Amino acid sequence: MRFYVNVDHVATVREARKTDEPDPVEAAMECERAGADGITIHLREDRRHIQDADVRRLSEKARYLNLELATAPEILDLAVELRPQQATLVPEKREEVTTEGGLDLAGGESRLENAIAKLADAGIRVSLFIDPDEFSIRRSAELGVPAVELHTGDYANSYRESGKALERLQTAAKLTKQAGLAVHAGHGLTYKNVTHVAAIPEIEELNIGHSVVARSIRVGIRQAVAEMRSLIEASR
Ligand code: PXP
Repeated sequence: MRFYVNVDHVATVREARKTDEPDPVEAAMECERAGADGITIHLREDRRHIQDADVRRLSEKARYLNLELATAPEILDLAVELRPQQATLVPEKREEVTTEGGLDLAGGESRLENAIAKLADAGIRVSLFIDPDEFSIRRSAELGVPAVELHTGDYANSYRESGKALERLQTAAKLTKQAGLAVHAGHGLTYKNVTHVAAIPEIEELNIGHSVVARSIRVGIRQAVAEMRSLIEASR
């Protein structure tokens, strides 16, 4: 199981003061030393946390960089120039607090098709962030990407009350693998809810950010990453 730490919210703290600390690149290096397989960042159109310069530095320094992005042309151009190992296409709305749902694949996605082609032509592995439903999985397979990231937000919001969202993830992970796509997962995963998701055998990559950065305030980022890594390994 690959575990990539999303360091967006290290940059959120920096941007709260528009200064140079804390540095998400330094934090990323600490995450890798503590057992993360790589780093995930989301360059948003509104640049509310990660900045272009962070992407430049991380594309040189990270062992493995998974860049989340929407289909904005200037961000696609930057990705093509910097060639992170992986790009995860996500939907983006300006007013959202965080990425709220998976990509809408119900037709008219020529922007998405063009973005996939552009990234793939640059040699970047492309993943699509989708809701864990059959339609999205089948459309992703038709779009020819090698991987999808299943949105775990519904599970994270409801795991205390019901097992339904976990069942949906389990079914979606099976279907994704059967469709020949690699299965990634993420969003809203925490030290309390990660184990059931990490135990789904088809999932080969987890992207976790907020909970790790939040815990790092108490125990330091190395320990926060090591603790999450142990939880993930223990559930496999
Ligand atoms: N995966 C994707 C596609 C995301 O957009 C995010 C949030 O940026 C994450 C994973 C990480 O979510 P969280 O910060 O809730 O762990």
